[in-house]
Amino acid sequence: MSANPSATLNVPEVSKPVTLPTMPGSLGPKVLDIRKLYAETGMFTYDPGFTSTASCESKITFIDGDEGVLLHRGYPIEELAQKSDFMEVCYLLMNGELPNKVEKTEFVKNITYHTMVHEQISSFFHGFRRDAHPMAVMVGVVGALAAFYHDSTDINDPHQRLIASHRLIAKMPTIAAMAYKYSVGQPFVFPQNRFDYAENFLQMMFSVPCEEYKVNPILAKAMDRIFILHADHEQNASTSTVRLAGSSGANPFACIAAGIACLWGPAHGGANEAVLKMLEEIGSPDKVGEVVKAAKDKNSGFRLMGFGHRVYKNYDPRAKVMRETCNEVLDVLGKRDEPLLKLAMALEKVALEDDYFVQKKLYPNVDFYSGIILKAMGFPMSMFTVLFAVARTVGWIAQWNEMIEDPSQKIGRPRQLYTGAGKRSFVSLDKR
Ligand code: SDX
Repeated sequence: MSANPSATLNVPEVSKPVTLPTMPGSLGPKVLDIRKLYAETGMFTYDPGFTSTASCESKITFIDGDEGVLLHRGYPIEELAQKSDFMEVCYLLMNGELPNKVEKTEFVKNITYHTMVHEQISSFFHGFRRDAHPMAVMVGVVGALAAFYHDSTDINDPHQRLIASHRLIAKMPTIAAMAYKYSVGQPFVFPQNRFDYAENFLQMMFSVPCEEYKVNPILAKAMDRIFILHADHEQNASTSTVRLAGSSGANPFACIAAGIACLWGPAHGGANEAVLKMLEEIGSPDKVGEVVKAAKDKNSGFRLMGFGHRVYKNYDPRAKVMRETCNEVLDVLGKRDEPLLKLAMALEKVALEDDYFVQKKLYPNVDFYSGIILKAMGFPMSMFTVLFAVARTVGWIAQWNEMIEDPSQKIGRPRQLYTGAGKRSFVSLDKR
């Protein structure tokens, strides 16, 4: 028996059976290698939404949706969230191992000293309306970084890729905070090197020049943990967007801007904002039954935001940690009786006991509780997906670098099942 058994495919109109090798992973499902399928059969596979398709080989993140498992380079998300910090997780995702003391100090220094943005980027903001959605600003400004940092756009130079990676991880919080300050008409706040990553972000968001800003260590720890929970998640839509953009050789700033654009959708990273809007529209626990009924009615067009997941058919492990963090933050802020939390927990209870959700294995995902915490911390709803983008930048960067270093990598170019018109001749206007 060969190490990796093959599959044999009998294809209509193809005289001899096609042998397709299988490839095992270190964890999770094997893959059927179909790279020669079209050459040998003249047929494509058909998989809209890629529900059964592995787009690449990766060593970064493993998800077992049935068991509710999420590992980053083998480490369970629950352990990283409880015992590590976001800078260590960034290093782990990018390098494959947790940093030792020297490596961590060097990495944190590299990120810290890239947090400022080119001063002309500040004037860039003044082209936007004050009421622009901050995700629109993020897409524009992050894409424009390629116009300022020409010395880190050559994707074939590992050193330039590393500098661009550090710049993006470091500058995303600065740009995000600038987008918020611009929207509320307050002056931009410079990063301060004495703060750690999460503290720096909070002070750039919430400090004002008129008084000294005191970072609340519990909120900073919660912020850091929220960044960890959002850092990477295998080949999700926005990560696949970054990989596809990167496969053409586009510069890292353009690729991350593409990821931000994709994350914005309410089916993806925009769900945290959509969850809070949904909870505010529901208003009170006595309307939960009606909402769950609507979510089960295909004709309603309504879905329970923050519920369901393409991969998790069990509780999203991040949602569990997020719910614990939610309770901690609300306790610290004296908002334990936050009506939205009580409403969310009532909604979760009803949904998890409902046959529809049980049968379809719809559980709360990472977005279900995050909005409640972020609102309690003082972030406006429009900033929720921006925070997701800040945290996910390291995942996009790690996956983008892995793709570029993958020897089997080539430009992504899917095919299609064509069901349009057959070949026909042009008809002049007077004959139509
Ligand atoms: C994120 O991919 C990632 O890893 C993403 C993410 C990450 O970290 O990158 O985890 C972050 O995007 C989390 C998901 C946030 N989105 C939402 O909370 C929006 C609400 N959820 C859904 O729209 C939906 O669950 C998706 C988009 C998340 C997943 O959709 P799928 O896998 O394509 O599943 P589907 O749409 O085929 O649904 C399967 C069935 C359908 O019913 P049937 O047609 O089979 O009868 O479940 C139903 C759906 O109608 N369904 C829901 C539902 N989600 C799915 N019904 C009611 N409410 C929901 N939320």
